[in-house]
Amino acid sequence: MIIAIDGPAASGKGTLARRVAAAMDYAYLDTGLLYRATGAKVLAMGGDPDDAAVAVDAAEKLQPKDLENENLRGEEVGNAASRVAAIPQVRAVLLDFQRQLAKTPPENKHGAVLDGRDIGTVVCPEAPIKFYLTASVTERANRRFKQLQEKNPAAIYERVLNELEERDARDSARDVAPLKMADHAIHIDTDRLNADAVYNAVMAHIRTHMGTDD
Ligand code: CDP
Repeated sequence: MIIAIDGPAASGKGTLARRVAAAMDYAYLDTGLLYRATGAKVLAMGGDPDDAAVAVDAAEKLQPKDLENENLRGEEVGNAASRVAAIPQVRAVLLDFQRQLAKTPPENKHGAVLDGRDIGTVVCPEAPIKFYLTASVTERANRRFKQLQEKNPAAIYERVLNELEERDARDSARDVAPLKMADHAIHIDTDRLNADAVYNAVMAHIRTHMGTDD
């Protein structure tokens, strides 16, 4: 079983996907982390995230420990991630790993939950259950700002908002695997829903799909 969860930046995919994976005892892959780790590697080398050769080299050299770098969550890395993510060869390098994990989840788990931008459209178009999460950009900026503020009290709301808008525009406009809702995905607008309400709605859909809703 593969559950795909896509949506724009800070739409609540990560929190939701982690929770769904725990409830179902499925593997979880935050695919954004692969792009963030690639972008962070390029920045650490003093490289330009728009430079295809440098970015592809960084993606090819990714190690599991690179995904544990605790500085991956900031908006500077998010910006670099969305730049390297627009390079087709970078996406190609990272595609196999994502598909492999989805098809053969570790620890003999019976399924996987993947979140990202192109899970339902490109990585796992065959996924039987797909969700597409959205929220207004101001609501998403509020959420991301609160998260960032916990780590960095000097975070600036306008900057977070601008960076989300810039990233959404780039992610939606790129030629390869742009952010868009997959056919047959279940669209959930989370503007007026808290994390519990989104989780409950998603689990209800999953139970219905699996025939375990009685
Ligand atoms: O956490 P947030 O929603 O802000 O972003 P993320 O999921 O960590 O993704 C960071 C960036 O990686 C995005 O802005 C995309 O450009 C890119 N990404 C992608 O292109 N495809 C994916 N499947 C996941 C992320």
